Amino acid sequence: MLRTVEWRNNKLSIIDQNRLPAKLVYIELGSVEEIADAIKTMKVRGAPAIGAVAAAGLVVAAIRSSAQTPVELSRAVEAAADVIRSTRPTAANLFNGIDRIVAVLRRNNGRPVSDVIGEMSAVAGDYLEEDVRGNQRMGRYGQELIPDGANILTHCNAGGLATVGYGTALGVVRAATEAGKSVHVYADETRPRLQGARLTVWELMRDAIPVTLIADNMAASLMRQGKIDCVITGADRIAANGDAANKIGTYSIAVLARAHNIPMYIAAPMTTVDISVPSGDAIVIEERSREEMTEIEGLAIAPKGARVINPAFDVTPAELITAIITERGVLRPPYSESIARAAGV
Ligand code: MRU
Repeated sequence: MLRTVEWRNNKLSIIDQNRLPAKLVYIELGSVEEIADAIKTMKVRGAPAIGAVAAAGLVVAAIRSSAQTPVELSRAVEAAADVIRSTRPTAANLFNGIDRIVAVLRRNNGRPVSDVIGEMSAVAGDYLEEDVRGNQRMGRYGQELIPDGANILTHCNAGGLATVGYGTALGVVRAATEAGKSVHVYADETRPRLQGARLTVWELMRDAIPVTLIADNMAASLMRQGKIDCVITGADRIAANGDAANKIGTYSIAVLARAHNIPMYIAAPMTTVDISVPSGDAIVIEERSREEMTEIEGLAIAPKGARVINPAFDVTPAELITAIITERGVLRPPYSESIARAAGV
């Protein structure tokens, strides 16, 4: 299985996703600045993947700090946590990954620095492994919803590349294939960053899972022709009532799916669920640079000075979501109850 994030011998490396599909290249992230830059510029992207990088990144920061006392260590790690928290606001996993490591630090304040760093490193390692195992479990639950022969529409990339490995939405596709079902995926290209075209198509082709690339504006017509049996996407943050933020355009697909009576599934780990947020209205949506809209690889595709907006995510209201597939099972409406139960509150 392809690993997007590696944490070995206290070294953090990632696949540089900006080089895909042309080249599969791993790069090491050796400082907080490099980690923050990799997340902001989307060398690593996808909610669970950035959560994993944030967790391991704090251990890199701790090691690099050369702190001698618990107080120095605490100061260095909390400062690094602030930098990493400020990279991208929407994905709950980023904050979850940071909180997991900061909790180790706070719990062990007063113990020798090397012991605390050792425990932080082990917890970061477990966090990465839990992500992969959770995706596999999610896949097994989710694949039961997928009929043999299904044509599945997905948006953006919620695959192995968006996680530590295996994937959420594409994890369900992988699990269906592993269960012997023959499935086919339509991948939205996903403007403006083209995660569908560059990443989803790349990783499914690599696994020999049938996939067809479509432009974002083709979904309605395919649904009308009866060519799509279900939609599966990932999520970046799921509110307590089931509203789900995901890549911009997910909401339009959910509306289309409802209009054509097609099930709309969200596959996401519990680290994406944020029960402190009551509804989607309170989810902060990242606004990205104008250049992502006006240029492709430096080539102008809009007039100079054109007015643009570039929200990276939108919110799909819970009433349009047929089920939320998690590593703790398939959650059904009413989500305020099923999510609370799965979250153990
Ligand atoms: O801007 P990105 O590429 O980080 O957005 C990613 C998505 O929207 C994914 O669907 C989401 O993070 C879930 S990934 C398992």
